[in-house]
Amino acid sequence: MPRLLSLVVAALGLAPAAIADKLLASHYSGKVYSLDLTVSGSTGTLKSTSSTGGCGKMPTWLTLDSATGTLYCFDESGAGQQGVSGGVVTSYTVNTDGSLTQTGQSKTAGGEVHGSFYGGSTGTGFVAMAEYDASTVTTFKLPLTSSNQALQKEKFTMNGSGPNKSRQDKPHPHSVITDPTGKFLLAPDLGADLVRVFSIDASSGKLTACAAGQAGGGDGPRHGAFWSPKPGSTTGQMLYTVNELGNSVSAWKVTYPSSGCLTLAKSQTVSTYPAGKSAPAGSKAAELHVSGNFLYAVNRNDKTFGAKEDSIVTYSIDATTGAITFVEQTNAHAWYPRTFAINKAGTYVAIGGQTSSNVAIIQRDPTTGKLGGLVANLAIATPGTDGAEDGLSAVIWDE
Ligand SMILES: *[C@@H]1O[C@H](CO)[C@@H](O)[C@H](O)[C@H]1NC(C)=O
Ligand SMILES: *[C@@H]1O[C@H](CO)[C@@H](O)[C@H](O)[C@H]1NC(C)=O
Repeated sequence: MPRLLSLVVAALGLAPAAIADKLLASHYSGKVYSLDLTVSGSTGTLKSTSSTGGCGKMPTWLTLDSATGTLYCFDESGAGQQGVSGGVVTSYTVNTDGSLTQTGQSKTAGGEVHGSFYGGSTGTGFVAMAEYDASTVTTFKLPLTSSNQALQKEKFTMNGSGPNKSRQDKPHPHSVITDPTGKFLLAPDLGADLVRVFSIDASSGKLTACAAGQAGGGDGPRHGAFWSPKPGSTTGQMLYTVNELGNSVSAWKVTYPSSGCLTLAKSQTVSTYPAGKSAPAGSKAAELHVSGNFLYAVNRNDKTFGAKEDSIVTYSIDATTGAITFVEQTNAHAWYPRTFAINKAGTYVAIGGQTSSNVAIIQRDPTTGKLGGLVANLAIATPGTDGAEDGLSAVIWDE
């Protein structure tokens, strides 16, 4: 609402007008949903305004290039499934009403679980993807076209399995993220207990392996997020990772030597449960995000708040050292929260429940980092089945 109008509204003692935000969510049954959130005070309405296919049989992850309004959607299908060969990576233009128009697509080897754009002159020249089952990271040049072939495929190997024999039988890269300088690509590897590091050749898109960061044995790092005491500066740069198998988050000091690769040194590992409480059997930490001097992580299937209500945990980040301290565990209002996203203003957290197949909007105080009550909730498509690879896969803010 324009400032003058809000002053007039406030002066007249009228209820504040509704605030509208947009989100995008993907579902393993094949569609990407455009959502509208309208909030008035502490209550709101979330509704689906349109849905679009085109992201293969199993849309698994969404990444938005906000500068150009381009959405990239990754497809998990085609990884060892009977009768399915290969997958796709798809780009869309996000229209002003939130709807999507497909702009490009390339065929992939399949089994992508996550992806990120990188390189080029503006950080969007190429796309990298993590393939969990195939133990690979694959890159493509952008834009995506039907004749586009993979640019590079890095295949990882291990000598024998890790401490968790069933989950760490071989390398399982689970995500790819660029560092704040855009010069390095990191790939947390759940199977190998590593955070793999690659230097980026911005013009060719070529990735060159650097020394990896060593996670704790059996941690199973899955996703990562960066934080620095002074935004825009890499002095004091930290990386935080969420450990799916260890049910914990780790803090890493990131050092940038004058030449060569960035280095990672793990400084802390803290549980995703409060002191004295351990992870219930079958629970798996999933995702983490930073907003201000706070870190958040979600626990899948811990049922802390009910049969179908898992938890989100808050850590405070020391403003100078980057050290993390567990603050509290609160209701994620979702079962099997695979995905969540914090809006830029830091005022709302959107949590995506995979098995409950819902998007829950939770209030957040940007100053204290405290999570508040449920503002809005929307069930999307069909709920998933306990323990299966179905249901809602990703949610992001369209901003
Ligand atoms: C596997 O073992 C060989 C021989 O000891 C060694 O050269 C290689 O670096 C090891 N690979 C990994 C991924 O640990
Ligand atoms: C391996 O990880 C799974 C979680 O995916 C857990 O349920 C299981 O207990 C772990 N096994 C070992 C041996 O730690």
